[in-house]
Amino acid sequence: MKTLFTGQNAIHLHTVDSTNSYAIDLLKQIKPVEGTIIYTFNQKNGRGQRGNTWQSEPNKNVALSLILYPQFIKPESQFLISKITALAIADLMSALLKENDKTHEIRIKWPNDVYIDDKKIAGILIENNINNNALNSSVIGIGINVNQENFEKNIPNAISLKLLLNKEFDIVQLIHQLCEFIEARYLQLRAGKMDKINEEYVNQLFLFNQWHAFKCNGNLLNGKIIGVSAIGKLKIEIESGEVKEFDLKEINT
Ligand code: BTN
Repeated sequence: MKTLFTGQNAIHLHTVDSTNSYAIDLLKQIKPVEGTIIYTFNQKNGRGQRGNTWQSEPNKNVALSLILYPQFIKPESQFLISKITALAIADLMSALLKENDKTHEIRIKWPNDVYIDDKKIAGILIENNINNNALNSSVIGIGINVNQENFEKNIPNAISLKLLLNKEFDIVQLIHQLCEFIEARYLQLRAGKMDKINEEYVNQLFLFNQWHAFKCNGNLLNGKIIGVSAIGKLKIEIESGEVKEFDLKEINT
């Protein structure tokens, strides 16, 4: 793996409830080196956003948590971690499509789901520890659907690399590639290239600048996504021209 630190220290667990929970418990006991990854091929109780579960058939998918110490980021800018992670997964998808001579739309569905066309291929759950007004540690949980072919009926919009590209993938090799793409994006962040990150993130947003009926606090709201605020709220322009901001609890896209 061609990285300086990301994934160089790797903890492989035969099985675990949630790699994110494991990483958070580990951080309470020791300070693993920056870039430590915890991964498993058998996650029993994966956690997703909005308190949802993340389902993953054994031995088929990537389930990984990465530990970073982005102390140079102010807590109010923590959404940048979401942005670089989503961009890194989008980078990985774009490399895989290219390797396989396929063209599909890769999109980031706010806040940080990665979509191929209109289906979800990867989910991200970031859990930050904030202390003394600084971002002390960040646990970046990533689930990618790789070789799984059947998804439960309650997740109708899931897709995997296998379903998309008709071939099996080596999960460990994918983890290595993922580490390389994340590290590149993290170094971009560390170098202060926020404008570039923000621009690329917005350019890849699913439904960007398209009129759409959003589910908002139980009602339908006609509007178009025009961007994301500094703290990560979704900015939607409604028909009157007014711009409203929403957090995860308030809107379903
Ligand atoms: C989502 O789409 O809601 C986020 C899903 C995040 C799933 C990953 S799998 C590895 C890590 N461990 C967890 O318990 N969750 C994340």
